[in-house]
Amino acid sequence: KRNIAVMTSGGDAPGMNANVRAVVRTAIYHGCKAFCVMEGYEGLIRGGPEFIREMSWADVRGFLSEGGTNIGTARSKEFRERKGRLLGCKHLIEAGIDALIVCGGDGSLTGADLFRAEWPSLIGELKDTNQITSEQFEKHKHLNICGTVGSIDNDMATTDATIGCYSALDRIVQAIDYIDATANSHSRAFVIEVMGRHCGWLALMAGISTSADYIMIPEKPASSKDWQVQMCDIVGKHRAKGKRKTIVIVAEGAITNDLSPISAEDVKNCLVDELGLDTRVTTLGHVQRGGNAVSYDRWLATLQGVEAVHAVLECTPDTPSPLIAIEENKIVRKPLVEAVEMTKKVASAIESKDFAKAMSLRDSEFTE
Ligand code: F6P
Repeated sequence: KRNIAVMTSGGDAPGMNANVRAVVRTAIYHGCKAFCVMEGYEGLIRGGPEFIREMSWADVRGFLSEGGTNIGTARSKEFRERKGRLLGCKHLIEAGIDALIVCGGDGSLTGADLFRAEWPSLIGELKDTNQITSEQFEKHKHLNICGTVGSIDNDMATTDATIGCYSALDRIVQAIDYIDATANSHSRAFVIEVMGRHCGWLALMAGISTSADYIMIPEKPASSKDWQVQMCDIVGKHRAKGKRKTIVIVAEGAITNDLSPISAEDVKNCLVDELGLDTRVTTLGHVQRGGNAVSYDRWLATLQGVEAVHAVLECTPDTPSPLIAIEENKIVRKPLVEAVEMTKKVASAIESKDFAKAMSLRDSEFTE
């Protein structure tokens, strides 16, 4: 029977707790021991029973709906260095863990993939320096790792949705519905900055859900020469038709086609200067990550947690590490390494100004 550990990493996302609950209980159901690595990769670096904690069925009671992550998370700088990963490897072996399930976003899963790839050399170094015994070396030759994607950004390739993205979308849409009332009353324009890092999914979906006047996302950058003219033309037409409020949604990663960032302040200044609109900026910030998980995130996280444990139990040393995804409403396993590669391709297409490619790569996440 296996010793299966689960951790949450990167920005917290509603549904992470549901994922932890599902992993812990499915592992126990199958007669395995379940562990939580506390504080994300930081917990691997610290090690010991305080940070790699055995969990019982009752320990995850109430986790299903709760927002955030009760087992803690971190953006660990130390784990980005080999020295940190070496400590992580040692502590996992000391705790007897033979499979690790990581619930996190693209950065965290890229880290997981690197850890997996480096494992043979890490464990070799630990043996050569007598930090682990020969038995431990033989028993832990392969790191069985599995990703479940938890992030509000929905920025991971090969999965239609990440755990948490629909809860965050719901928070944003609710906030914009509130803003609508005051915007309409004062006949004002509001520029709303939403999260998403380099991904425009939250901004785009929130824009469609609230019939925003204009949306700015990194994958379809505005023209550096005349984005102001284009936006004001559209907003001006809506106003001419009698619309009393204006909503412009700006993704935090919004850029122009020469890769200059566009801020909510830039957009506000333009609406004031060109159209004379009384304009306010609202940066929704971390409120987007808070609150209970919506039902979509609860079931997605639960089904993915169950599948992650099944994947771990079925993995042989030759099976590529899986990422548990949802594709066309089915829970599926994808090779982690490919998902990480494809996610990187979107970022590099944007960096090299190949926006058509970036869009088609994002698109293929939904259609492939
Ligand atoms: O990745 C999730 C996210 O909320 C992004 O949308 C945002 O850019 C970032 O995390 C904010 O990070 P932090 O919480 O560390 O400020």
